[in-house]
Amino acid sequence: MTVTEMPEWQALAQRRRALDQIRIAALFDDDPQRSSRFAFEAGPLVADLSRNRIDAGTLGALVALARAAGLEARRGELLTGAVVNRSEGRPAWHTALRTAPHDPATARALAGERDRFLQFAEQLRAGQVTGSGGTTLDTVVCIGIGGSDLGPRLVTEALGPSSGPRVRFASNLDRADLDDALRGCQPASTLLVCISKSFSTLETLENLRAALRWFKDQAADLDPAAHLAAVTCRPDLAAPFGVAPERVFTFPEWVGGRYSLWSACGIGIAVAHGRQAFIELLDGAAAIDAHFASAPLASNLPVLLGMLGIWYVNFWGAGSRAVIPYAHRLRHLPAYLQQLEMESLGKSVDQAGAPLAIDTAPVVWGEVGSNAQHSVFQLLHQGTGWVPLDILLVTSNESGGDSRLRLLNRFAVAQADALAYGSEVLGDAERPAHALAPGNRPSTLLWLPQLDAHSVGAVLALYEHRTFVQSVVWNINAFDQWGVQIGKELMARRSQADRGT
Ligand code: F6P
Repeated sequence: MTVTEMPEWQALAQRRRALDQIRIAALFDDDPQRSSRFAFEAGPLVADLSRNRIDAGTLGALVALARAAGLEARRGELLTGAVVNRSEGRPAWHTALRTAPHDPATARALAGERDRFLQFAEQLRAGQVTGSGGTTLDTVVCIGIGGSDLGPRLVTEALGPSSGPRVRFASNLDRADLDDALRGCQPASTLLVCISKSFSTLETLENLRAALRWFKDQAADLDPAAHLAAVTCRPDLAAPFGVAPERVFTFPEWVGGRYSLWSACGIGIAVAHGRQAFIELLDGAAAIDAHFASAPLASNLPVLLGMLGIWYVNFWGAGSRAVIPYAHRLRHLPAYLQQLEMESLGKSVDQAGAPLAIDTAPVVWGEVGSNAQHSVFQLLHQGTGWVPLDILLVTSNESGGDSRLRLLNRFAVAQADALAYGSEVLGDAERPAHALAPGNRPSTLLWLPQLDAHSVGAVLALYEHRTFVQSVVWNINAFDQWGVQIGKELMARRSQADRGT
């Protein structure tokens, strides 16, 4: 039976029809407890789902569909390292990097490698790692792309200025990216870290070669090996670049690229913010793993957010969703989520390879708040279509919650209310048509207590599990990405043809 044939799906289609003309404002009027009824906690996070186009019955029906789709069993498979990535025949056990697996051998191996790269990061921070000229290495340039860049870059920048060596990132094949990352760097005090699960990604290897040329051109007398490290599942492919074996950090093949920031791929995070911060990042994610594993589906936040996504895509035809973090240091979150969700869920065949009759991943986009208020919010308020939103807010900052943070959060909540209620919330009857906004536009507020490693770890794990929940209901493999090969292969074949070989 396909998911659309399930009675739970039919029940939701009925609820969709029933809610068609119901305004979010009316849902609040009808239920004075709505704000508390739709408030959910997971680890350090608090989510407010009350401004969504749902009532309590609909949320229950969404949970019923998740259960009918077999989520509980699939969740168990994911969290215990079963083979859930069927097309590649392996687990997707990124949670084992933050919640120690039952199998002692695997737990020991993961802990051992984690200690090794965290120790290296601490030695770099302590100035104990010197270059071949004996100079302390004060700058680390991480070269990687996709999952080997987006997560590490997001977290490194989310936690603020580095308290250790400078950490920079270069990912694009456009040489300007690496040039900018190397600008002002001295070879003698620079460490190049190449991060690539496959160690075969063209952009990353081209950037590594260019960085090594930069090094040799500027410091021919120095030994590049002392200024090189790598993170990869293929140490054999890193060796020919001159990376010393003790400077190669690895992680298991069963950790997907876009799920790999928790591994040595996150070394930039540890160099900039220290071992303790990295451990707190893992702990924040582990808190969400525990919640996802044990909370009843009806109050399980990754499940509720995942099913809200299904509701808007499959029952309301939403072709996109937006993520607006009201925190400058989370400005890379939309790009990170684009890979996580669109590379995981951008699929049109089911696990058996049969074409799907339903829509899957929406286009994920976003911009940082409050900047977004001066660009995309025009469309969000008055555009012909509506876009479900996630708005992220931080309750307090280093200074405990200054007036600017209070203003920022007041803006975020006001925008969410204006989207829900429309211009009628302002109460003034005489508004010209061009100044009217229809409202009834859904958003979810996600509160972080502060922008620290623990909360950031929790948010990213939340989105990982939200993504998995949707893959179960859509019956797709969230852990492969065969589609990305097509453009790469065509480019490679053309290059080969050009070389006439
Ligand atoms: O092209 C897509 C992809 O394979 C992503 O899944 C991955 O995160 C990225 O390229 C980089 O791959 P690697 O870490 O193997 O260089």
